[in-house]
Parts: sequence; structure tokens; C-alpha cells
Amino acid sequence: MPTSSITSAFSAVPCPVVESLDAILPEEPLLMMGAGPVPIPAAVAKANAIVINHLGETMVKVIGQVKSMARYVFQTNSKWVLGVAGPGSAAMEMAISNLAWDGTRVLSIKNGFFSERMAEMGRRVGARVSTLDVADRSVASLEEIAEAIRRERPEIVTVVQGETSNTVWNYRLKEIAALAKAAGALVIVDAVCTLSTMPLEMDAWGIDAVITGGQKGLSSIPGVSLIAFSDAAWERVKGRTAPNAHWCLDARLAENFWHNAGYHYTAPVSGVLALHEALRLVCAETLEKRFARHLRCSLALQDGVVAMGLRLYAPQACRLNSVVGIEVPDGLSPADVCAHISRMHQVEISGSFGLPIVRVGQMGEQCREHNLFRTVHALGRTMVDLGVKVDLPAGVAALERGLSGGR
Ligand SMILES: Cc1ncc(COP(=O)(O)O)c(C=O)c1O
Repeated sequence: MPTSSITSAFSAVPCPVVESLDAILPEEPLLMMGAGPVPIPAAVAKANAIVINHLGETMVKVIGQVKSMARYVFQTNSKWVLGVAGPGSAAMEMAISNLAWDGTRVLSIKNGFFSERMAEMGRRVGARVSTLDVADRSVASLEEIAEAIRRERPEIVTVVQGETSNTVWNYRLKEIAALAKAAGALVIVDAVCTLSTMPLEMDAWGIDAVITGGQKGLSSIPGVSLIAFSDAAWERVKGRTAPNAHWCLDARLAENFWHNAGYHYTAPVSGVLALHEALRLVCAETLEKRFARHLRCSLALQDGVVAMGLRLYAPQACRLNSVVGIEVPDGLSPADVCAHISRMHQVEISGSFGLPIVRVGQMGEQCREHNLFRTVHALGRTMVDLGVKVDLPAGVAALERGLSGGR
């Protein structure tokens, strides 16, 4: 080929001029206090910088340890723990697409944005999905759920433990699972924002599939997620006749890598190593201490927010502790608050899909005293700067009282 034609072939799309990451990223890293991703510990960051062979002796050992630590975190003795290369939604889709197919009757308890996502995934695999639509800022009563189960006779019930979008906590998860079980349905639980922040006992509560992401309670990186299936769920996966249309998410293929030391796809090795370290830190802390840390920090944060004069979005009875929703005062938008606190205080918090709130996360590394003081101060200063009358010293004092056990 003459030189001129090589040149023109390569210049059809010109090489872009871009900025380096150093130029794009802020000089001081932002404190990630939104609804996830959350800050990661140094051991997780270090592991995330390593690449090893995705097959072979070392990886087999890592995978074995990830599974046994995940069993502790899920509180299950089920063998069927697997990782997923993808966000929490990929783990969600793995649960739905392996357990439901054309004509499967699915009942989705719909508390908001993320529980609706499970229903939508069910529809996309051809399931007959009915939803129990729950009013914003509330949970369904057990009577309503029992009635919906009687009416719809679902083979599968889906429910979210913590509905991150409106910060509602399905605090009767154990009873909901029992109702579904008694009716012969499998139960899928989205624990993306709650796992390792509050109790969830997969075996004792009779849950058949639990999903989580890396970037929330576990304080790992986004993009590598976990799922656990009960024996009953695994039997359904193995017994289906039509193969799962999602090749990457097919649990029967994923078994090859996660249980038989074989190849499915090239695993995100760095992310798996990061997850290993995140799980190891959870085990070192123990679930009991981790739950206590989350509760203490979240309640102290809530006290601080209320004492400065702001209002919490979810009522106390069903308020999620893992992500705290705060009403944005009249005249401001969530975007105003998030932009100001980020620009002026280098603290990231989240809005929420059109709701008039901002959200502060209390997951994993977010639940550290120094992070809380900085966040409450930054939130109070932001309100003052934006013209809202708040009592910032009262907020900080209430946070301190809460953290030192003086609620
Ligand atoms: C409760 C819940 N479920 C599912 C998801 C989806 O996770 P991802 O964004 O990692 O796909 C989220 C993310 O915020 C969540 O909070």
C-alpha cells in the first residue's frame, strides 16, 4: 500500500487532544459522602492496582477466600456464592434472569426507584410481573404483602432491604421472606446499599438470592459485585430448560469460574482482589462491631442534621440508616446544594432522581467520626452560604453528643 493511502486511512478520525487525569481531577480528592461509591481503605486501593492471572493457583485461592468471607457477610452456608463483573445492577440481573423466564409469576414489592428496577428486569425476561406499589416514605404492611401473595401466587418475590432512592428501610424483611416462603415462592433481596451495614441473615430468614455491589457498605470499588443463591434457588437455576439469554450473567456458566477453577470470561482480577481486601476488613472488624459502628454514626448524623434545623425525609419508623435523606429547604434545589458543598468544601453528597432531597451515605468508610464532622460542618456552611438559617454549632454539638453516646 502506498504511504499516502496509509496516512489518509489513519487520519479519517483525527487523534483527539485530551487533558491528563491530573488536570481533570481535583487537587484534593473529594470526600465521597453520597449514596455511593464511598471512600475505600488503603488496602483495597492497593489491591486494586494489582493484575494477576485470572486463572491458576493464586486466583483459585483468592476466589476461595472471597467466597468464604462473602458467606459470613451474607450469613449463609450455601455453596452458591458467585462474583459478577459489573455493577450492583448486574448482580440484580443475574438473580432475576437466572430465576425468572417466560411466564414466571413475579411479585415485586415496589418501594421506589431500585425496587422498580427489579420489576423491569423481570418484565424484560418475559416474566409476568405484578407490583405491590408502596406509597413514598412508607413500607407495605405485612397484611398487604400477604394479600398480594394470595392474589398473585408468585413463584418469586423481589424486595429491597434499603430503598436508597427515598431512604426507606424495609425493616420487616424477615417477616416478608417468611410470608413468601410459606406460599412456596423464592425470595430475591436487593441488599446493594445495606449489606454489612445492618443485619441480614440469608439462611435464618429464608432468603433465596441476595445481591450486593462493591461500592457501598463493603467499601470496595464499583464494578465487581456479589450474589448468593440458596440451594432451592440453585436447583431452579440448574433445572431450567431454556438457557439464560444473558450469556455473561448465566449462573451455570459462571459456576465454571467461581466453583470449578475454569474459564467463563476474563474476571476483573484487580476488582476481585480489591473485594477480597474489603471483605477481609469486614471480617477483621466482625459484623457485630460493624453494625454497631454504622448505627452509632448514622444516628449521630441524623441528630446533627435535625439539631441544625433541617428535616429528615423518611419517617423514623422506616428510616434507612445506611443512606440518610435530608429535605432541601424551599427555594433551593438538590443540585444547588450538591454543587456548592462539592465546590466549596470538597464533600460529595447526592441528590435523588427528582425527589426534593439530598442524601448523605453512612456505608463503610463513610461511618468514621472525622468524615462525619467534616460533612455536617460542610452541610451547615453550605446552607448558611445559600441563605438558609441553620444553627450549625447546635448541629455539630448534637453530632458530638451522638457519637459519644449521649443521645
Ligand atoms: C438499593 C440499590 N439497588 C441497586 C442499585 C444499583 O447498583 P449499581 O448502581 O451498582 O448498579 C443501587 C445503587 O445505588 C441501590 O442503592
